[in-house]
Amino acid sequence: MGTSWTGSGRKGSPARRLTVKEISMGERFNTIQRLIDRHGRVHTNLRLSVTDRCNIRCWYCMPHENVVFKPREEILTFEEIARFCQVMATLGVNKLRLTGGEPLVRSKLPNLIAALASISGIDDLALTTNGILLADQAQALRRAGLTRLNISLDTLSPETFHRLARREGLDQVLRGIDVACAVGFDKIRLNALSLRGVTEPEVVRLVTFARERNLEMRFIEFMPLDAENHWKVEQVLTGQEVLTLAQEAFGPLTPIERDDPSQPATDYAFADGRGRLGLINPVTQPFCHACNRLRLTADGKVRNCLFSSDDWNVQPLLRGNADDEQIAQLVRDCIAAKRPGHGMDEPQFLRPRDAMYQIGG
Ligand code: 5AD
Ligand code: SF4
Repeated sequence: MGTSWTGSGRKGSPARRLTVKEISMGERFNTIQRLIDRHGRVHTNLRLSVTDRCNIRCWYCMPHENVVFKPREEILTFEEIARFCQVMATLGVNKLRLTGGEPLVRSKLPNLIAALASISGIDDLALTTNGILLADQAQALRRAGLTRLNISLDTLSPETFHRLARREGLDQVLRGIDVACAVGFDKIRLNALSLRGVTEPEVVRLVTFARERNLEMRFIEFMPLDAENHWKVEQVLTGQEVLTLAQEAFGPLTPIERDDPSQPATDYAFADGRGRLGLINPVTQPFCHACNRLRLTADGKVRNCLFSSDDWNVQPLLRGNADDEQIAQLVRDCIAAKRPGHGMDEPQFLRPRDAMYQIGG
């Protein structure tokens, strides 16, 4: 195109009027004050928890019983979430991921997805689900504009599923995966938590399952974010150990260069090109230096890190008559306070006050 945003034209070429599309893109670029923290990390990725409720009770996330959920009136409405995302898009956020609790227990979720998909500047809209309700909802989610899906699958054994999730549901999850594959998402990933004493026998089975469907199988090291304080470093089955188990069964795997440097996973290709293995190693290989994520909890608290107990409450601004600039300033304050890393390996490390389901995975 060669035309500058001021409309003065390329040097030597006659000035011409900008098209409406160019003007709106120019406005977007000119007005963007990107969310850059004190360590130079540019925040373009927002994770939205839409509920803290869940239909199962994973051992590594939730309490077994007597869960205290946030009061319903505290939970942001779809309009409030969409407004927040609109403001974030003007600050350079271009990726959204819906999380929970379990996002599919929130009623009419496709309405929110449609609203988010229509925000200018958002070019990636994804969701993380436990898969239990997916068979019924996959089609509507896809139609509403969801492009990518992560489905949790820790095991293929009903007994282990029950031990981890403390509820039934593996058959529903497997059905959900089949339906999701059939309705044509751009990308589907399967996520397994990596837990010593549980995950070792699952690695080859899960990878085989994913390869049969040409999907990526990701293993995520267990982090100290469970509600019942089980976490001990010895319980983490490391990414390196998962890689060794996979290579023993499938032969040498080739690391794939990341197209996005902020992507936390290291991906590996199989010799026959089917499926992929992904390893997310937040405990043994922290990726905080490249973190570009920001989180919004279901009740409207903005957080700059999973491991921080500080939050910036945007709910009163969304419910009052605050303008966009006030919302933007709250987020800038939150970003300005972001620490360089989670500090899990430091002696003074304190677990965050909230568990995974309360923050959003
Ligand atoms: N450590 C690591 N990952 C976790 N998840 C939930 N709790 C933890 C934890 N303590 C991840 C799981 C789940 C997703 C929703 O969040 O991968 O699939
Ligand atoms: Fe529910 Fe997800 Fe937490 Fe499991 S990890 S209890 S599925 S919110």
